[in-house]
Amino acid sequence: MNPSRNTPSMARWDEDRFMRMRQGVLANWPTGAEVDLDEAAAYHRAMAPTKNTAWTLRQARAHGKTLVQPRAGVADVDAQIALLQRLRGAGADLLPTTVDSYTRECRYADAERGIAQSREAGRSLLNGLPAVNHGLRECRRIADAVDAPLFARTASPDCRLTHEIMYGAGYTSCTAGAIVFSLGYAKDYPLAKAIESWQYSYRMMGAYHERGVTLSVEHYLPISTLVPQSMSMACVLLDSLIAAAQGVRCISLGIGQQCHLAQDAAALRAYPALGRHYLDAFGFHDVELSTVMSQWMGGFPPDEGQAFGVICMAALAGYLGGVTYMISKSPHEAIGVPTTEANVHGLTASKMVLRMLADQQLAPIAEIAEEQAIIEAETRAIVDRALELGDGDAALGAIRAIEAGVIDVPFSPHRSNANQALPARDWRGAVRLAQFGGVPIPKAIREHHEAALARRSAGRVQRAPWELLLADVNAISEGMLLPD
Ligand code: 5AD
Repeated sequence: MNPSRNTPSMARWDEDRFMRMRQGVLANWPTGAEVDLDEAAAYHRAMAPTKNTAWTLRQARAHGKTLVQPRAGVADVDAQIALLQRLRGAGADLLPTTVDSYTRECRYADAERGIAQSREAGRSLLNGLPAVNHGLRECRRIADAVDAPLFARTASPDCRLTHEIMYGAGYTSCTAGAIVFSLGYAKDYPLAKAIESWQYSYRMMGAYHERGVTLSVEHYLPISTLVPQSMSMACVLLDSLIAAAQGVRCISLGIGQQCHLAQDAAALRAYPALGRHYLDAFGFHDVELSTVMSQWMGGFPPDEGQAFGVICMAALAGYLGGVTYMISKSPHEAIGVPTTEANVHGLTASKMVLRMLADQQLAPIAEIAEEQAIIEAETRAIVDRALELGDGDAALGAIRAIEAGVIDVPFSPHRSNANQALPARDWRGAVRLAQFGGVPIPKAIREHHEAALARRSAGRVQRAPWELLLADVNAISEGMLLPD
């Protein structure tokens, strides 16, 4: 079967399609010439297993341990190495390399200027590592200098060359997803084109797998403020099916912390069975699944003590949700990219809470089970409807579901997003939908949303929906979950 190139499809690419596109991808910047799949796979095979993400996550799952990864990226390779060694020394289990914004947009000439200006200034003027400009050999110095798995943290519709360079250099995971990064961060990039460039990246990871190297991906919707967990999970599950179809064999299913303890824990608890259900349904039985939570991605309180409160609560939610690893924030989050020490403190605060909780056996919490049942039913309704719209194809289904407003991400910048679904926190601070738009929430659960929202507004002065929404969006940065 050779599906039409014009109709999006999750079907696995043939070698010819990948190789033809690859020539163009590698030609985008001179460092592309450094990548040789066979040489890179041999480098990975010779690496200690403790530096491989899939291996490390497998150990964590087997021992019920929660790992922590901060975010970090600077312009210079030596400065990046020093930063990672400091974070590793402070207890980071997984090591990040945040890629700068120019590289995310494939603007390598601008990144080159950023490197030169940073050198001149004696500090990083880029918000991450311009990995493509440095190239495979330079990035491999990072892999050689650390003893833990490396993550390429970049979030855009087209990361093909960045993935070629960074995985080639010894990185073993990346943040990922055509649907999640299009809806989360992009405005004009066509969905079908984003899916195609991600299929390329996934097929490249599949090519490593065929050479005996398991590479991982972390799927998560990077905007999560008041986005129902079921909605971000549905996007992640569709991206995961698209990834598995090209040969990816290790996937982390992500959510963002929303600071409602039961809902956050419930989402994480719901993920493994939901993921297994859909991947098995497509025959992807050998895909390993982990869960991951990003600490609060919305506005942070400027007060450092309050910021630590959010960070520590994330660690508790992750513990209650049995999460495999979490991405930590820093007490500088309200200001911008953190200093190394602030970054270390976000990490050590998270690790401290997790260490103290590690041996505590808490009784099951009824509210978590209740929210888990709701999240499972909602997520299944959205994913099943998307697959139905795509005649069983996850790629086509995702595009049609977005067009139909079945997938509708509140606050998405993307042109294709319907913007008909309107969220709000209920009387206990859980995220519900006040307007459903085209999102196929089952009737009984709709009524639950409506009742929980009505209970919040009962006996209060009625506010315009947008006013309430704005207050909810800003509440945590102002020091509370529910605005007065
Ligand atoms: N170093 C550390 N953290 C970073 N973030 C973005 N770039 C960097 C970097 N270079 C963090 C932001 C935000 C999240 C999306 O990533 O602070 O919390």
